[in-house]
Amino acid sequence: MAADKPKFYITTPIYYTNGLPHIGHTYSTIVCDTIRRYKRMRGYDVVMTTGTDEHGVNVERAAKQAGVSETEFVAKMAADWRALWDELGIQGDEFIRTTDLKHAHTVQWLFRLCRENGYVYKGHYTGQYCIYDNAFVNDAKPGDNCPDCGRPTETITEENYFFKLSAFQKPLLDFYQKNPGFIQPDTRRNEIISFVEGGLKDLSITRTTIRWGIPVPGEEPHVFYVWFDALTAYLSAVGGPQYEGRGYWPADVHLVGKDIIRFHTVYWPAFLMAAMLPLPKQVWAHGWFLMDAAKMSKSKGNVVLPRPIVYVLGMDALRYYVLRDTVFGQDGNFSYDALVTRYNSDLANGLGNFASRTAAMIEKNFSGKIPKPGSLQPQDEALTKEIQSAIGEVLERFDKCGFSLALELIWSLIAAADKYLASEQPWALGTSDTDAQRRATILWTAAEALRVVTVLAHPVLPDSTARVWTLLGQPGHVGSQDLDGLRWGQLKPGTPLGKSQTLFPRIEKAEAIERMEAMENEPQKPATAPAPGTTPGVAAAAPQSAPEKIGIEDFAKVEMRVGEIKTAERIVGADKLLKLTVDIGTEIRQICAGIAPYYEPDKLIGRKVAVVTNLAPRKLRGVESNGMIIAASVGPEGRPVLAGFHEDVEIGARLK
Ligand code: MSP
Repeated sequence: MAADKPKFYITTPIYYTNGLPHIGHTYSTIVCDTIRRYKRMRGYDVVMTTGTDEHGVNVERAAKQAGVSETEFVAKMAADWRALWDELGIQGDEFIRTTDLKHAHTVQWLFRLCRENGYVYKGHYTGQYCIYDNAFVNDAKPGDNCPDCGRPTETITEENYFFKLSAFQKPLLDFYQKNPGFIQPDTRRNEIISFVEGGLKDLSITRTTIRWGIPVPGEEPHVFYVWFDALTAYLSAVGGPQYEGRGYWPADVHLVGKDIIRFHTVYWPAFLMAAMLPLPKQVWAHGWFLMDAAKMSKSKGNVVLPRPIVYVLGMDALRYYVLRDTVFGQDGNFSYDALVTRYNSDLANGLGNFASRTAAMIEKNFSGKIPKPGSLQPQDEALTKEIQSAIGEVLERFDKCGFSLALELIWSLIAAADKYLASEQPWALGTSDTDAQRRATILWTAAEALRVVTVLAHPVLPDSTARVWTLLGQPGHVGSQDLDGLRWGQLKPGTPLGKSQTLFPRIEKAEAIERMEAMENEPQKPATAPAPGTTPGVAAAAPQSAPEKIGIEDFAKVEMRVGEIKTAERIVGADKLLKLTVDIGTEIRQICAGIAPYYEPDKLIGRKVAVVTNLAPRKLRGVESNGMIIAASVGPEGRPVLAGFHEDVEIGARLK
């Protein structure tokens, strides 16, 4: 019963609505979702909040540009964010919008408490303001750019209500000292402590230059400063003024990116102290995902979107990659190459292969029922010991948000179990009773290893571990397993295996990358829901049903012309691609083609090819491609053979 369980409250940042989620935002939400699943498996009653930060001048401007009201604009954006999280299976238990009425009441209530306790006064402020970060830039002069985002600041003078942040220097420093785990990781903690030691200036918490915000009651046209507004969303989501009734406040963890740590570890606890409300227990700041060594951002145009990855490889692959390939707390570089490498090596060849091999051997030799182990040999005991003793260590790593290390350890168990199978060779045993007994012991041991790693990996790979659970014929849902009760030896002999499952079909790297990059360049629409029993990646890779017929008018939309290859060169870091320049009669186009393993660049020069000329330009491995060369796809590996002409044809002639 949830009532007996200890409560655990975790939050993602409340995201701005002026763009759609990219991998950076998705990463924050994936981490929260992983912690949520992990804590549930440790017996907690967990609530995870996410939501949208919908006020401020940016939204005012974006709505104006879109020609709609702010209300309409944010409603559409919030719905899109919500729908994406739903589609990716990482929706919060609470979704708070800062335009929700219950939220406005909470903000107004918090302000009233701070004011009643003597921490709010009226004053004037003139300063340089960054409208993108919604913050005054301390010590900036007119004409200075924002040090965070590099965009020009604006000079703003306002009558404001001020919050006496200066009064909280000592209380905050005392608090950090008494609660050394409050700011994580430690490097961020040190940064914040020196910032606060440097002195705190009072903070203006209302605005009169902005219309689109929560009104300060009785003080119109004052509206609340967006950070006073947005931070309070964590509290509004779990009861607001009636937070005690729900019992989730104070939050256990606010999970944030390193860019917003100061708001969460200085302003937010100070507001709560002023209102005499309980303070969150921990703020964990993760690093950024970088693309081409820069933080992903819409304004720089270097964002990677989650949908194409999920469509081609599945959500579990994305989750695994972002958690495995970065040290939590530090920045990481996003790379499609590394993503697909991880997918093929750790998921397809690692977990997927081990699960299907083990199940296939049990199917074949024991009519699909988990065999009963006989007496153990030292090598069985060694594997048993290795796995049993790793369980506690994996949990400790998860507890410290050491996701990469936890996964490394789980995957070392998969490797050990794989090695065990390879050296014990159950397939090479004969038909004698002794051999059958030995085979039973080996396969039970392998299946038990699979069961344990499946439970341990569940918080990170919710979808595929649920499939392995079904494959192993285990009762209930893997997500309801009690991690504290997980022990070696709980797999019951005689259990029939469940339906066979496709886990992670191997995928050719260049093809996967090309598909993801092509989708990145298309307008985003929801990925087709995967068929039950398949991962989205599998659904995408599965044979398609007979294509629908199209009319001639549809075919006529595709413009194809004869082109002549003028230059051809390899692309560093993209083994499969050639960069071509192609004369199509009216112009010379740059086109990337996935033919590098099959064609020598030099031999292509002067060759006439069929080119699709009216495709929207897209980037492949960062290189612009403006058109497509037609090739047949031959054999099981899809070897490309360029379409050509046996008679002389004029460059630029249209193919019909
Ligand atoms: N609205 C504020 C947060 C208010 S919380 C009370 C905000 N929103 S945001 O849309 O800009 O999202 C910020 C969060 O998204 C970051 O703190 C971080 O968690 C995540 N990320 C955005 N870009 C990122 C990367 N490139 N890499 C990793 N995470 C990043 O700030």
